[in-house]
This record gives sequence, structure tokens and C-alpha cells, in this order.
Amino acid sequence: MPSVLPTTDTKHAYVQSMFDGIAPRYDLLNDVMTGGMHRGWKALVVRLSGAQPGGRVLDACTGTGDIALRLAKAVGPEGEVIGLDFSPRMLEVARRRPIGGHRITFVEGDLMALPYADDSFDALTVGYGLRNVTSIPGALQEIKRVLRPGGKMVSLDLGKPTSPLWRKIFYAYFNNVVPILGRWLTGANDAYSYLPESLADFPAQEGLKRLMAEAGFTGVDCVSLMGGAAAVHVGAKPLGTES
Ligand SMILES: C[S@@+](CC[C@H](N)C(=O)[O-])C[C@H]1O[C@@H](n2cnc3c(N)ncnc32)[C@H](O)[C@@H]1O
Repeated sequence: MPSVLPTTDTKHAYVQSMFDGIAPRYDLLNDVMTGGMHRGWKALVVRLSGAQPGGRVLDACTGTGDIALRLAKAVGPEGEVIGLDFSPRMLEVARRRPIGGHRITFVEGDLMALPYADDSFDALTVGYGLRNVTSIPGALQEIKRVLRPGGKMVSLDLGKPTSPLWRKIFYAYFNNVVPILGRWLTGANDAYSYLPESLADFPAQEGLKRLMAEAGFTGVDCVSLMGGAAAVHVGAKPLGTES
């Protein structure tokens, strides 16, 4: 099958229109593809973000707002959560999500150029987002800029299993079954072929840890999930480093 992986120049527009196209079915696909496990992984993201009652948190690449809602529960009525995404159709789905009185603002914007002041968030989460940006080092600098010193960033994304047997099974599922499931449930031809290809290009566990450390985050750590098929990375903006 020909590659659908876009070049850096075309990636922004490609990813944006791809997510616009699959928005109505995105949540269903997430549940089907992970057997519902993404829910527990997102709960872990919120826990590791250190979001506290009264805190101000940005969920970048918020998509349909699943992580944003979980964060809103953690920061409570005195806190503030902003869910940012560059796909208007994903945000439409997010805005229709019942939020039970929680305080969330959904904003259309680009992770690569966040419309926020330096040092303005207590924590920043990004779920399945870093794999899709045009430059991971660029995104990490932007994340660090808007975090207050001591504030944490947490990324949840796909990973690369290390056990040879599990890797074989995982890639067989991911490369063959996921594109078919995706096409069947969303009608989108490319989107779920892009997914395995985007993973091949992604630095994943150790690579992302290295990039986070190079970007100046401290306490960088990674929790592998489901034998490494997914991973959560966490790091903090060092104290005493106002942007
Ligand atoms: C796979 S979805 C993840 C949605 C949600 N975070 C979740 O965990 O279910 C990735 C989202 O990232 C958004 N995205 C990708 N690159 C972006 C960027 N540079 N700026 C803002 N949003 C971006 C896409 O529009 C899409 O909604």
C-alpha cells in the first residue's frame, strides 16, 4: 500500500482535515481499538499532571475533550481547564459533550503557537497529540513556555513494545486490523493507515524521554502501558526558570 505519511510541510493541513473527517466517530473508535483501556490511561494522565482543586490546566490536542473533562473534575469549580485543538469538527463534538457544570473552555488553536502568556498554566496534558505535530522539539518548547516553573507536562501516546513476541502481535493488529476497523467504522480511507505509519516515525518511550530532557524538562519519566503499546511521559518545568 502506498504511504499516506505527509511531509513536514503538508502535515499540519493533512492532520487537521483528517481529524475533521473522523470527528463524529473518534470516541467510538478509541473504545474499540483499545478495548476501553484508554479510559484508565487518561485517568493516569490526570493523576500524574498533579492537577489540584483551583488549578489552571491546558489540555492541548484535546480532540473531543475526554481528558479535559477529567481534568475539570480534578480542578473543581474554583479551577479552570482549557481544551485546545486545531480541528473545528473535533471541537464541535467536544462542545456537545455533557460536562455536568464543570468549567471547561474549548478553544481553536495550534499547539505549535499557543495563544497564552508565558508561565500561565499549572499543568499541561496532551493525549495522542505529539505524534501528530510538525516538530516535537518545537511543541515541547511551546509547552515549557506556557507552564509555570514547577508545572508538569504529561503526554499519553502510542508506544513501541519491547518484547519481541508482543511486538509481533501488536504490529500485526495495528498494521492490519486497525486500518480495516477504522475504514469500516468511520468511512475514512486514509486516517487509520496514517495511524500505524505515524507510530513508525514517532520516537516513543526512550526517544521522547530524551527529547523532553533536551528541551529542559526535569524529572522526566515514562510509564509503559499494555506492554509498551502505549506510554505516558511526564516532566516538569524547572523551578526558577520563568520564561
Ligand atoms: C488522536 S486525537 C486525540 C484527542 C484527545 N486528546 C484524546 O486523547 O482522545 C489528536 C488531536 O490532536 C489535534 N492536533 C494535532 N496536531 C495539533 C496541533 N498542532 N495543534 C492543535 N491540535 C492538534 C487533532 O486535531 C486531534 O483532535
